[in-house]
Amino acid sequence: MARDELLDPEPLEPVERSEEANLRPRRLEDFVGQAELKEHLSIILEAARRRGQAADHLLFAGPPGLGKTTLAGIVAAEMDAELHVTSGPALERGGDLASILSQLAEGDVLFIDEIHRLSKAVEEVLYPAIEDFQLDIVLGKGPAARSIRMDVPRFTLVGATTRTGLITGPLRDRFGLNARLDYYAAADLESIVVRAAGILDVEVDGAGAVEIARRARGTPRIANRLLRRVRDFAEVRGSGKVDEAAARAGLAVFGVDERGLDKVDRALLEALCHRFGGGPVGLSTLAIAVSEPTETVEDVYEPFLIREGMLMRTPRGRVATPAAWHHLGEEPPPTSPDDTPPPGLFG
Ligand SMILES: Nc1ncnc2c1ncn2[C@@H]1O[C@H](COP(=O)(O)OP(=O)(O)OP(=O)(O)O)[C@@H](O)[C@H]1O
Ligand SMILES: [Mg+2]
Repeated sequence: MARDELLDPEPLEPVERSEEANLRPRRLEDFVGQAELKEHLSIILEAARRRGQAADHLLFAGPPGLGKTTLAGIVAAEMDAELHVTSGPALERGGDLASILSQLAEGDVLFIDEIHRLSKAVEEVLYPAIEDFQLDIVLGKGPAARSIRMDVPRFTLVGATTRTGLITGPLRDRFGLNARLDYYAAADLESIVVRAAGILDVEVDGAGAVEIARRARGTPRIANRLLRRVRDFAEVRGSGKVDEAAARAGLAVFGVDERGLDKVDRALLEALCHRFGGGPVGLSTLAIAVSEPTETVEDVYEPFLIREGMLMRTPRGRVATPAAWHHLGEEPPPTSPDDTPPPGLFG
């Protein structure tokens, strides 16, 4: 099965990629929702601006599509600073990071995406750089090798991760703000849809926005993508206007159901319930059953299904809840005898 285009950040057409970039809020005031995080950020940035210094290092954690990269851009824009972008996997050696650091100017923002994937060697170059703004460079090899210390201009590191659990303690502790992005409320997603429609020059009415927001699984990127698909549908099969009827019909065509589950979500539930009798089943087995990478299932699909109360992570594996069976239009099987507590335990 193909990875689902509505969820997956990768297989965007070039046009869609540039549309996604256009939809990125550039200023903090345009960033919808996440009120508490916005307040913290605005205080930190304002204080740094008044002092005329680079802002403290910032870590943004949370599931894909909630706005981490967007926030990195906003931090640079609000500080009127240059943004340098790299990622954990792109930095193979300490030297890769050292060369980026040596090109920074005072006040610049360095964004490291997927920062949980930094190698040990790269982390070791990063620590003195973010703590003391120092860079140790080793010249030569073997017994003749010597190391020199270099000053790095005061910069702001912005890190993003979908996996807080995988960030080492020492790295996490070096950030001045360790922020977690939450899934968005329906009302925020509605505003995001309306805002995006304005930028894309698509006519949308309130009920159309509500319908898209409701199925966007709390995620702005998905809200924007569903809007684009409904826009396509409305242009080809409808009047061009994104109203409730167009949203319902368009989302049905693209396989997004009433609760926002897509083909892969349903394949996961079907595998879990039909092939493995509702579980418990191991994550990797489940991932193979739907032909998705384990990491994608764990980071993208499961958190949503767990939030919807359809799937549980247990020490013995993944388990379907009655809600999962009901979503598939079936009755859950009667609980098996070994699930019932031994007699006498509860009086
Ligand atoms: N708070 C927001 N307000 C408006 N639009 C938003 C907001 N957050 C995200 N978006 C939109 O969602 C899209 C995806 O956001 P972004 O790329 O910043 O997510 P991310 O957290 O970096 O995801 P990933 O983990 O996959 O890198 C952006 O193009 C932007 O248009
Ligand atoms: Mg990102």
